[in-house]
Amino acid sequence: MSDFKGAMFLAEQIAREAGDLILRGERDRSGGRPEVESTKSSPTDVVTAMDRAVEDLLRRRLAEARPGDGVLGEEAGLQAGTTGLTWVLDPIDGTVNYLYQIPAYAVSVALVTGDPTVPGEWQAVAGCVHQPATGDTWTAASGDGAWLGGRQLRLHPVPELGQALVATGFGYRQQRRTGQARVVAGVLPWVRDIRRIGSAALDLCGVATGTLDAYYERGVNVWDIAAASLVLTEAGGALRGLRGAPAGPEMVVAGGDPLLADLTELLAELDADTDPEAETDLEAESDPEAGSTAEAGAAGTGAAPA
Ligand code: IPD
Ligand code: CA
Repeated sequence: MSDFKGAMFLAEQIAREAGDLILRGERDRSGGRPEVESTKSSPTDVVTAMDRAVEDLLRRRLAEARPGDGVLGEEAGLQAGTTGLTWVLDPIDGTVNYLYQIPAYAVSVALVTGDPTVPGEWQAVAGCVHQPATGDTWTAASGDGAWLGGRQLRLHPVPELGQALVATGFGYRQQRRTGQARVVAGVLPWVRDIRRIGSAALDLCGVATGTLDAYYERGVNVWDIAAASLVLTEAGGALRGLRGAPAGPEMVVAGGDPLLADLTELLAELDADTDPEAETDLEAESDPEAGSTAEAGAAGTGAAPA
């Protein structure tokens, strides 16, 4: 068994344990929504007690099993390691779905080489995306394929752009969303339809599984995509940015060619990797603190605010 496969099994084991913690929390709460503990880049970018409890659990398990590795998590930031390997964690990707008890949220655990804070400088080598509400578990190890449960995933033949079901997502800040609304209006006439599922990790796994044809989004962070990017590439797909850039916070476009190339070209024509000018930042007009909060939220991760 390769080292990476061992890491994949560990990722799966702890992601499932985290999923059980989430489901137990759901059962124990007597109705109502999970409690919001704080907000990050905007008032709608929430952190629940469960986001923190899950990340704590994952960090504890990794400290026991792989004490030398670094850990970068959405909620608690970067803890450097000594092995050159870093675990990248999104305790709940799709937090808004979790808040509203929509099943499309997932625990994402990846092991990466390189520097996960710099787009294009890291490479996922093992990972797991676990969807507690359905029990679906995607796993992948570098060179060993991608799996949904016991089924090995291979990218479906991709349709042309006009027949493609394309997933996307939106950030939490008004200025970013104003740009994303313009871009989605430019994409919609050219594709079969658009889906906004609410979890970047599940979007990428959906492309790998064939329940979606392609995905794009501006503003995702490394923890949203690290594990699922390996699921997709091991299934035969690819992720990139625009104009030759690597996939990262500026832009992620994912799928299989030639659809991926066509969608990337359309997004470049739409300047989907830019935001509107600051004067159209409605949020800044209504809340002068909003911009600085977002920047503080991304500090130290090398990630752009979503
Ligand atoms: C978000 C989800 C969403 C995407 C956002 C992400 P979170 O992650 O992946 O689908 O559109 O860009 O920030 O906040 O639920 O962990
Ligand atoms: Ca996320």
